[in-house]
Amino acid sequence: MSGALTASKDPRRIRRMFADIAPTYDFLNHFLSANRDRAWRREAVRLAGIGPRHRVLDVCCGTGDLALEAWKRLGEEPAGVIVGADFCPEMVHRAMEKKRILERRRERPAAAPFELLVADTLRLPFPEGAFDFVTVGFGIRNVSSLEAGLREMRRVLRPGGRAVILEFATPRSAWFRKLFEVYFHQVLPRLGRWLSSAPDPDLDNAYKYLPDSVDLFPEPQVLCDVLRSAGFAEVAYRLLTFGIAAVHLGVK
Ligand SMILES: C[S@@+](CC[C@H](N)C(=O)[O-])C[C@H]1O[C@@H](n2cnc3c(N)ncnc32)[C@H](O)[C@@H]1O
Repeated sequence: MSGALTASKDPRRIRRMFADIAPTYDFLNHFLSANRDRAWRREAVRLAGIGPRHRVLDVCCGTGDLALEAWKRLGEEPAGVIVGADFCPEMVHRAMEKKRILERRRERPAAAPFELLVADTLRLPFPEGAFDFVTVGFGIRNVSSLEAGLREMRRVLRPGGRAVILEFATPRSAWFRKLFEVYFHQVLPRLGRWLSSAPDPDLDNAYKYLPDSVDLFPEPQVLCDVLRSAGFAEVAYRLLTFGIAAVHLGVK
């Protein structure tokens, strides 16, 4: 399958790909990133300044890990709310299961409501200005139009509200980039194909799509320009783990 086709962002294809890998998504995320993904999500919500009483929407929430991280930071204040939204029902169901397990174990505050729903990031079912923060973790890269996705995130933010984008990037240092590219392009797709649950052969596999889609995604500096042209101000970013990932912030 050609690189261009592998990184196609046709929404039906993307939804089907994530439905296929939903059962193994969390395990593979943690395994293939040596658990760095957990630290990156923690850092994203910390840098954003999410805290008690905030209304937070996490789009492309998948199995809910970034939303759950934000939920922790809301504390026991009943005034805050976290909403996770994703257009793939299989991923949202896994997020719901995880939320139920955590509630049963009482590992998360009972007071702050946490809602999950199936919704397209390009057509969010919320009025303008409904949220203080809109977050997205490793998700905006998969949305068929980056610009339209960012504009829709901005629409549902209140004036002064903040968008938080956690996404993969390309390491800066030449030697580390070479090493990482071998892992990301050669090792990870093989491991992913081997360990993930029976992907549809037509789809190639999600772990080949991952490095291809990261290659096509704007570099951090360029993403700043895209954020500005989507209407965000005070745009800034922080690189994580030698530049493998980056957190971008922008204010409405
Ligand atoms: C790589 S997963 C990221 C999940 C989660 N945010 C995380 O941190 O692990 C990307 C998610 O984006 C979702 N997605 C892609 N395009 C979308 C869209 N237009 N609307 C809503 N969800 C979308 C997919 O269904 C998938 O669950």
